Amino acid sequence: MRILGIVCRTHDSGLALLERGSPTLILEEERFNREKHTRKFPFGCLKAAFDDQGLSLADIDVITTPWHMKSLWQMMFGAVRDGFPASLNLLSPSARPTQSTLIVTMPIGLRWGLLWHFGVKSRLPKIVQVRHHDAHAASFFVSPFEEATVLVMDGYGDETAQSAYIGIGNRLERVSQTQIFDSLGMLYTAVTQHLGFRLFEEGTVMALAATGDQTYTKKFRELIHFKADGDFSISTDFISYATHGLNKPFKNRFIETFGPRREKDDPITDRHCDLAFALQSTIEETMLHVVRALSKRHKSRNLCLTGGVALNCVANARVLRDTDYDSIWVPPCASDSGAPFGSALWHYHQTLGRPRAYQLTHAFHGIGYNESEIAEALRRSDLTYQRLTDQELTHQVAKDLAAGRIVGWFEGRSEVGPRALGNRSILADPRDASIKDRLNSRVKLRASFRPFAPVILEERVSEFFEIDQADPFMTMAPRVRASKADLIPAAVHFDGTARVQTVSRTTNPSLYAVIKRFAELTGVPILLNTSFNRREPIVQTPDEAISCYLQTQLDALVVGSYYSCRDKQHLLVSDAGELQAAE
Ligand SMILES: [Fe+2]
Repeated sequence: MRILGIVCRTHDSGLALLERGSPTLILEEERFNREKHTRKFPFGCLKAAFDDQGLSLADIDVITTPWHMKSLWQMMFGAVRDGFPASLNLLSPSARPTQSTLIVTMPIGLRWGLLWHFGVKSRLPKIVQVRHHDAHAASFFVSPFEEATVLVMDGYGDETAQSAYIGIGNRLERVSQTQIFDSLGMLYTAVTQHLGFRLFEEGTVMALAATGDQTYTKKFRELIHFKADGDFSISTDFISYATHGLNKPFKNRFIETFGPRREKDDPITDRHCDLAFALQSTIEETMLHVVRALSKRHKSRNLCLTGGVALNCVANARVLRDTDYDSIWVPPCASDSGAPFGSALWHYHQTLGRPRAYQLTHAFHGIGYNESEIAEALRRSDLTYQRLTDQELTHQVAKDLAAGRIVGWFEGRSEVGPRALGNRSILADPRDASIKDRLNSRVKLRASFRPFAPVILEERVSEFFEIDQADPFMTMAPRVRASKADLIPAAVHFDGTARVQTVSRTTNPSLYAVIKRFAELTGVPILLNTSFNRREPIVQTPDEAISCYLQTQLDALVVGSYYSCRDKQHLLVSDAGELQAAE
């Protein structure tokens, strides 16, 4: 049984291939068409996936998609009916900029795209529509938990913005859901735009929040009314996105209370920082309210968090710290980048009743490149480079990092989801506070307040951070232990937290070896890890890695077994395992 999960006409278009319950590939189109959060049909993914796996359309038994048209139509009709006539504004494409208006005809769009790709005379397998939150919740089936409570929070699905499930074995049961406009995801997006940032820059606001104070917290809290059962509603005294979408999400009262919208190039003032702080702390309090109620109502001590809001690693860490769940798991593709995969999982386990077959322990389900493809890309470039053994590479990169060099690191298959998790990463030394400014201003070209994530040997995470579970997908931002913060100043955000990722010997042996060697050299088992890109989707191919290296001020580049360094004097020769500086 091979399932193709696929989505288009909404942000993060892409696909997943599921074979007898195990993912063979999970791909986002943005990595191929180089357009962030693209809504375009995933032609690049289709070609890459079928070439990589040597498949033809005849090998696919069923196609799934993570939106259910009938539910979506009903939700849209209900939204317009309930707020009529002002709600006619929702029909404007700019009210829903993340989705094409044509999403309501997605099955036709999928059919056309697939026939265009495979040939008009192709016989397409059946296309099964899965409710959006069901697709998010289905990540439970590849979680480490045999039973768990599952909480889905996003902007909106095809009928709700927040839903909860009980998961046991290969079954999920939805036990509650909110109405569509009581949406923490949509609130976060609207405030992000109000603060002058673009769509999908919620992470920037999360970072900015750490620089603010409580000036607006009490006022902002008035936006959300907590109900006794763990539910909540968002006040329509302040919010108008139920009738105007993102065209005019706020009423005058919001603007009178929190100030006018910041334009993109306006300076960031204390008011903006404080509003970001108020938003973030209110989101955290609301999540705690929801999760504590779930905890009381359902006996499981395991929690799966998913949906776009689950990318809020600061809030996730508070949920872990301040509720009585024993462990929390967030998939690496909690946002809609994982929805096609989820739709396939839902169909396989929930609809067909097949047993669980796979646990997601790593995120490397993208496309990889073999040695000759990498060598060919390097030959096409003007780089001077060397091929090194694994041990030589480990020692050289660790030595570079310890000497303050910033290294582009490209290995194996790419990661799923929005975060670089160690195969398409830029690595640096966390002991040097100034390296953060170097990375932000010279390499990444992004705001100076943006933090960098530490990646640590899994077995040492509790030594440096206030967390006692592995987090291979960078989903939590726990506090850095006060006794260790001085050792890794570049990894500590303004609020004393860090968005930590753990790495184990089994799931990423090459990165594990580099960090281990770095620890031998410096005493610190941690590196900074940021995505290998500059204002573009994360690099996918060796050519893109080389191009990014050449455009930025990275000091060294690793692509597979090949090493290059800007300082050619620094290139190495290998002699019986000994590394020596070449003349
Ligand atoms: Fe979603």
